[in-house]
Amino acid sequence: MVEKLWGSRFTGSLSKLSEKFTFSIAYDSKLAYYDCQASIAHAEMLGEQGIITRKDAIDLVKGLRKIMAEVEAGTFHYDPSAEDIHTDIQSKLKKLIGKSADRLHTARSRNDQVVTDVRLYCLDNLQNIISLIEGLQISIVRFADANYDVMIPAYTHLQSAQVVLLAHQMLAYVEMLERDKGRFEDAARRASINTLGACALSGTTLPTDRDLVTKKLGFRETAANSMDAVSDRDFIIEILSAIAITGMHLSRICEDLIIWVTSEFNFIVIDDAFCTGSSIMPHKKNPDVLELIRGSSARFPGRLMELLVLMKGLPLTYNRDMQMDKPALFDCVETISDMLPLMAQVFAGIKVRNEVLKERVVAEQFFSVDILDYLVKKGMSYRDAHDTVGAMVKDCLDRGKKISAMSIGELKRYSMLFEDDMRYLLTPAVSVQGKRSAGSTNPAMVRAQLNKWKKRLK
Ligand code: ARG
Repeated sequence: MVEKLWGSRFTGSLSKLSEKFTFSIAYDSKLAYYDCQASIAHAEMLGEQGIITRKDAIDLVKGLRKIMAEVEAGTFHYDPSAEDIHTDIQSKLKKLIGKSADRLHTARSRNDQVVTDVRLYCLDNLQNIISLIEGLQISIVRFADANYDVMIPAYTHLQSAQVVLLAHQMLAYVEMLERDKGRFEDAARRASINTLGACALSGTTLPTDRDLVTKKLGFRETAANSMDAVSDRDFIIEILSAIAITGMHLSRICEDLIIWVTSEFNFIVIDDAFCTGSSIMPHKKNPDVLELIRGSSARFPGRLMELLVLMKGLPLTYNRDMQMDKPALFDCVETISDMLPLMAQVFAGIKVRNEVLKERVVAEQFFSVDILDYLVKKGMSYRDAHDTVGAMVKDCLDRGKKISAMSIGELKRYSMLFEDDMRYLLTPAVSVQGKRSAGSTNPAMVRAQLNKWKKRLK
């Protein structure tokens, strides 16, 4: 049975159910490494400031390093009878080094300790998430590059719209992910604040050096207000929001691929490694991994709401409610950290059905805006050109006709501005080549963008 850090004021003990309900060791044991890291910096500072003896400081650091090594080796086992990971490490340390262990908690409280541990956890994991996003971007850019010549139908309202390069759509995903990365970088900047040394809420009468701890732990700055330091979890809310947005992006990418892999679309094939079969329908190959990435992204906005509601209306400063920030945080961080590399693997295994796509991109409907632009370039107003092409499309639909099959005489019945060269517009390659606005699907522009990303993501 691990001794509580607050026992002596009490005569009675916590009821069994209270223990079960209040103990956080089962989930906050994930903070073990960061708890040691923060405690080492704290112990060194206490020693350097002469608040504890050099010998005590050395003993503390030695013991904590030993525990840290166990955590790293995977041989650390938390004691479920400890209230939380901070209590557990404190008690393990005492077993290792004896009486000096009692000096570790000088000039700190669990209120500033826990939030500092969580900040260290976040910074570590944010770096990892950022590099996982980059890994996904690399995988998508490779896929785009390998299929640079491929043209696909693009959609609005999931109705056929215009032809684009497959690479153009892939680079749309890369742009989305780049902004996601930016949000994590931003969140990391605000997570990188040293809250240790704020103590319970008001600071300490002992001569600590908080900036020294800031430096040792690699934080960007020292929290300027001890009450703010122990009170807020806005940095977690910000991270969950960045995760929710990334998850939303991943779910949309999954949805596109899921549509493309249907037998009705049949644009691509997903590797067997990411699909499963049906227990009743022998012909089925289901894109389960993509569906589960799409499905798992639902949890993020839920967790984000949980944290916003958890924190809303709490009085300053620390409240035990805040212990519940951790299941939400860990869940989201772990889930997104699985989703990102999985998505990258899926892209590495996609085969494009070129023969199918070649047939799909020739439908004349894709070129209506190009014809419209043709008339505008010859001086017609945009509105009139829209009406003209609209009438042509309607006639074609009503009479089962094709614009490409119309004689020049027939074309001129719609507008005298039509010449023979108009019919060149009715091919997908001309359609994409013809685009010239910045950021368009023009192949030279897409190539330039691809090259930019290849260089940037090296
Ligand atoms: N386990 C707690 C948490 O996660 C930290 C302990 C602070 N407890 C306290 N009574 N001040 O927030």
